[in-house]
Amino acid sequence: MSGSQVITVDGPAASGKGTIAAGLGRIYGLPVLDSGLLYRAVGVLLQQAGGDLGDPLAAAAIARDLRPEALDQDAFRTRAAGEAASQVAVHPEVRQVLLALQRDFAEQPGGAVLDGRDMGTVICPTAGAKLYVTARPEVRAERRWRQLTGQGEGVDLAEVLADIRVRDARDSGRAAAPMAPAPDAVLLDTSEMTIDQAADAARRIVEAARAAQLS
Ligand code: CDP
Repeated sequence: MSGSQVITVDGPAASGKGTIAAGLGRIYGLPVLDSGLLYRAVGVLLQQAGGDLGDPLAAAAIARDLRPEALDQDAFRTRAAGEAASQVAVHPEVRQVLLALQRDFAEQPGGAVLDGRDMGTVICPTAGAKLYVTARPEVRAERRWRQLTGQGEGVDLAEVLADIRVRDARDSGRAAAPMAPAPDAVLLDTSEMTIDQAADAARRIVEAARAAQLS
């Protein structure tokens, strides 16, 4: 795996990584993988089938049947879907099934932008540019609250902040591919940044990483 044209964007919920990944995809003309959507789909489809989020084999079976073309659904973008995703994401059996799909995406000729929690550590450790996007929990909660409210989901800001703290702890505390910056990732704290400022900072990080590759 060469991976030199791959850009990984990892980080916690509502840190701005999805927006940054999409922006980098546009700038460099690269396809973008929203890996969180895979876990969201597994969680929601498992629940719809009457399964238990704590059952690794049932969750892995759903992951095996996942059709990438059927991922763009509003049902996968709700607050409950994020919570279900993080519960099925702890199972190594689920992560193993989703690994091949994500690696295939990363190995496309020309490269790709990968958005997730373990893109720079597990899926594509050889990526040429790695970002780890963070923001203070209070800032992330407000962003997520605005997004959910905009989607018509009535929820309190305090509940969203509590969700984010629980999810951060679960995602970084799990044994299988915990959320963590790769040792060679550049940290980008977007707490005080507008979307444009964050996108610009991300582009500069990628330019610097690519220049370092050439030297
Ligand atoms: O948009 P948000 O950051 O809230 O979540 P997401 O990126 O859609 O991911 C939802 C959940 O899926 C996360 O909380 C993780 O538990 C899990 N996930 C993961 O384990 N590994 C990934 N590469 C992406 C997501």
